[in-house]
Amino acid sequence: DWTMAGYRDEAIRLIREQVGDGKVICGLSGGVDSSVAAVLIHEAIGDQLTCVFVDHGLLRQGEAAEVVAMFRDNYNIPLVHADESELFLGALEGVSDPETKRKTIGRLFIDVFQKHAAEVGGAEFLAQGTLYPDVIESVSFSGGPSVTIKSHHNVGGLPEKMGLKLVEPLRELFKDEVRALGRELGLPAQFIGRHPFPGPGLAIRCPGEITREKLEILRRADAVYIDQIRKHGLYDEIWQAFVAILPVRTVGVMGDQRTYDYACALRAVTSVDGMTADYYPFTHDFLGETATRIINEVKGINRVTYDITSKPPGTIEWE
Ligand code: XMP
Repeated sequence: DWTMAGYRDEAIRLIREQVGDGKVICGLSGGVDSSVAAVLIHEAIGDQLTCVFVDHGLLRQGEAAEVVAMFRDNYNIPLVHADESELFLGALEGVSDPETKRKTIGRLFIDVFQKHAAEVGGAEFLAQGTLYPDVIESVSFSGGPSVTIKSHHNVGGLPEKMGLKLVEPLRELFKDEVRALGRELGLPAQFIGRHPFPGPGLAIRCPGEITREKLEILRRADAVYIDQIRKHGLYDEIWQAFVAILPVRTVGVMGDQRTYDYACALRAVTSVDGMTADYYPFTHDFLGETATRIINEVKGINRVTYDITSKPPGTIEWE
């Protein structure tokens, strides 16, 4: 009989077999997947593991502090907090093509991991929380022709270039299974319930050119939106919700002043595995209240839209 406890034990055995007495670094993103991978690998090999949390300057408001605190408070796993925001944001300056963004970010992640692999005394292995949908969506879509929809930052072609061997214990799992494994491993419930957050972070929620100004506006709008969703008790009903800042400014009026600020789009979807998704049917009251709050509380946004595209034909993220 297949059980999650059995899966965990088998995964631990395979990790030990692959790694031997080698050192492993694990890229932590703050999401469920990489956290579950880290805790699983730590059970398997203990202090042969060091986690590296890379702050690429594309995280949400308060996220770096939250993730570091959650790991330091709950686990005895060595954790390096690498602030690499200058490196990533510098390289992304002037880049607006979605695949170029993703590839740039993927390449820099490898550079940063390599640097830290050397710093922990020569790690041979890089662990990642790659899931089954990440693997298939990077190579094909819905069983159709083999086209790349999006290059996931953590999939494909890494090992040859970087000289680190990949440890990907979640490669066969879907999101709901990763959450079950996380519960099996005793991760805090509020952590397991977090919405997915993509490795390339806010870069792919900022179509067009990324600027620090837009990122800051986006962070603040996103925080208000998620606060609204939590206040209305909707967080756990929604698979993923976020704001995208649009590369367009529009005219508005506030008080007796003309405004000329960015428009944003709210996104919220329900899904089982992220492969298909339906937009979430918020009430008009909720949408109206949220739009009012964002425009009042976030300087730089004067128009709020709601994205009602399902997947397919849309994707969940905007890039
Ligand atoms: P899309 O936008 O392709 O997203 O419908 C499906 C799910 O995958 C997440 N996503 C990523 N996660 N690295 C990740 O770790 C990535 O490069 C990446 N791209 C998309 C997305 O947030 C959604 O949950």
